[in-house]
Amino acid sequence: MENIIVEHPYNGDKHVALIRLNRPKVLNALSTELMQELVEALFDLEDNDVVRSIILTGNEQAFAAGADIAQMVEATPIDQITDNRFRSWQQLAMITKPIIAAVNGYALGGGCELAMSCDIMIASDSAKFGQPEIKIGTTPGAGGTQRLTRAIGKSKAMMMVLTGEMIDAKTAYDWGLVAKVTPVKTLLQEAYELAKTIANRAPVAVRLCKESVNKAYEMSQSDAIDFERRNFYLTFASRDQKEGMRAFLEKREPEYKGD
Ligand code: CAA
Repeated sequence: MENIIVEHPYNGDKHVALIRLNRPKVLNALSTELMQELVEALFDLEDNDVVRSIILTGNEQAFAAGADIAQMVEATPIDQITDNRFRSWQQLAMITKPIIAAVNGYALGGGCELAMSCDIMIASDSAKFGQPEIKIGTTPGAGGTQRLTRAIGKSKAMMMVLTGEMIDAKTAYDWGLVAKVTPVKTLLQEAYELAKTIANRAPVAVRLCKESVNKAYEMSQSDAIDFERRNFYLTFASRDQKEGMRAFLEKREPEYKGD
């Protein structure tokens, strides 16, 4: 892998993996190659039975400053279609394990869209978010207009998308885009604590919870509640549900095996 670094086990914890975007000279601009490597790494972790949660991060300057402008500048619409640039983005949605975006520095354009594609976003107080595509004559293309609108509402999303101006981490927190803001120095530690907590939960239930929450974006509320209920029924086919409830009644810690 030339554009990303995968750490697994992370922090000596075999249940947690960390992927670091690693094109520091261009603020982790998301080239087609980087996105392909990212998806390949995520599928490897998805297939690894011991991995239960994944952290995605960049470096102190940038999570990612967007799609690679140098790679796109002369592209035709047909190039955009035929090089399957967005295939990797679609594949991201196939990952069933929880992904935590730990954002330092810039998360712009595709970088903001990538962070929003993760399941939980936490940010350091240095983070800056934006959809600056309008400043370079284009529009968000990897879900920005949709995910941002759902996260922060139409008026604020319009302001960000139409001006291209950035917001800081505190604003992103106040507007509900990120779950938590931490000092730069402790961002990865906080991300790890979160990943570890989730990794200690029953893996099948974690997967079904992720599916159900995501349905809130895709279905009517009544259909989504029906979907949620079926996932709830399904957990009763897992040994971990029996273990979790018995452990509670026996006043001990559960030992989840992931089945
Ligand atoms: N693509 C390619 N290269 C990029 C890049 C990007 N998105 N963002 C930064 N870089 C490169 C710069 O060209 C520069 O390279 P050189 O040193 O070779 O000149 C290097 O990274 C450092 O960047 P700056 O010198 O610009 O750093 P700065 O601190 O002055 O500014 C910044 C930082 C405000 C983030 C600025 O780099 C910037 O505005 N970047 C572009 C952000 C952007 O427009 N993103 C949207 C891209 S389109 C998109 O993402 C479409 C989509 O939805 C799919």
